[in-house]
Amino acid sequence: MADKYKIQGGTQLKGEVNIGGAKNAVLKLMASAVLAQGESKIYNVPDLTDVDIMLEVINGLGIKTSHDKKEKSVTIDATNITSVTAQYEYVSKMRASFIILGALVSRCKEAIVALPGGCAIGERRVDFHIKGLEALGAKIKIENGYVHAKAPRLVGTDIYLDIPSVGATENLMLASVLAEGSTRIQNAAQEPEIIDLANFLNAMGADVVGAGTSEIVINGVKQSDLHPIEYTTIPDRIEAGTFMSAVVASKGKAIIRNVFPAHLTFFTDKLIKMGASIKLIEPTAIEVSCKNRLNSINFVTQPYPGFPTDLQSMAMALLTTANGVGIITESLYENRFMQVPHLLRMGADIHQDRNHAIIKGVKKLTGATVSASDLRAGASLVVAAIMADGTSIIENLHHIDRGYENFDAKLTALGANIIRYSEETENTKGFKNESRV
Ligand code: EPU
Repeated sequence: MADKYKIQGGTQLKGEVNIGGAKNAVLKLMASAVLAQGESKIYNVPDLTDVDIMLEVINGLGIKTSHDKKEKSVTIDATNITSVTAQYEYVSKMRASFIILGALVSRCKEAIVALPGGCAIGERRVDFHIKGLEALGAKIKIENGYVHAKAPRLVGTDIYLDIPSVGATENLMLASVLAEGSTRIQNAAQEPEIIDLANFLNAMGADVVGAGTSEIVINGVKQSDLHPIEYTTIPDRIEAGTFMSAVVASKGKAIIRNVFPAHLTFFTDKLIKMGASIKLIEPTAIEVSCKNRLNSINFVTQPYPGFPTDLQSMAMALLTTANGVGIITESLYENRFMQVPHLLRMGADIHQDRNHAIIKGVKKLTGATVSASDLRAGASLVVAAIMADGTSIIENLHHIDRGYENFDAKLTALGANIIRYSEETENTKGFKNESRV
């Protein structure tokens, strides 16, 4: 059933919100659990459709899994693996499942994994993943849309990534855990999710050094050195940044809990430059507030620790009503301005030229019917609707469901006037038509 959000803007967000586990960490931890024989358990798992897809991929290998949504945990019992194939049906739905390639090559010495293909935000090639695996000694054939990798023997080597790709760094970390000797990944991605993966692997008995820097060394261990573990995922920095943006957009004041503030330094710095106030009130809690009209800023998205591409759309929503002109340069993806036509429908003044967007702040946005074209573009429309005058309808929520757990419930708890309803019933009971400024 197609669901929609109905949002009445103009409500100041107040109170507290708890951030869940990081989607982009937990999906990789789940794939890594395949490496060790026995039952691993992962905590702080958000209830997201992407988590469900990763479980399906892992089940497809003949591995038993369970998902306790109340406890926010998944268990993965990788005692036996009966298949080395990850079907297109799943990989095409979620690119992150391509990480199973590295885990299977390590554990089973063979993998047949569907090529993910491009997606809405860009071409998103996997050539670094493939070249890195070949450098480790895997024989790779690409046939009928699948990567067939055979690796009876993997030997550690130096691998240089042309771009610090998150996925390639992770896939190659997994592939080299059981290789002979040491593998050195240079120009590695430095995202917090990479550190979380290294911590998970080390807890499992692997030997990974340098995660969080541009050079990661994986000293190969034996299969018998690996054992199942229990592990808690880090908080989701992008969910945190999204709620920070929503609070700022509403000119409200709220506490964001379960966040690692150091993971958001660049984003926080930009929000402060725009005029928001951000205070660290506890090691894992920040208070965000904003009273006045924001000032425009310019920024370029970059790999961590630069401005995160996943928060670019949220910042764009804020810039639509800021004072002055802001310029955004998107340096990671070819097509990550999918929110622009929808923000224009809400009255924004944005000129896009390839990977540059020039945003001239207008006095106000007005509510409109818009559509989520991908996960982060969709979330930015929620932020825009919260600050717009009048009512907005946001369609295609399945994109938002991939990365935000209970998004409407968390926003409602902060005082937002938002309701999720089904297209079929059009039942919006509980929606307050009056703005509660
Ligand atoms: N690239 C290549 N060849 C490769 C790999 C990457 O050309 O072999 C290019 C990509 O096309 C892209 C750039 O390198 O232009 C960066 O891609 P990267 O591999 O770093 O991204 P990813 O691993 O596919 C993860 C997150 C994304 C996030 C990016 C960048 C997950 C599941 N996804 O993607 O998150 O935008 O890193 O930080 O971890 C999201 O959560 O909405 C999302 C898209």
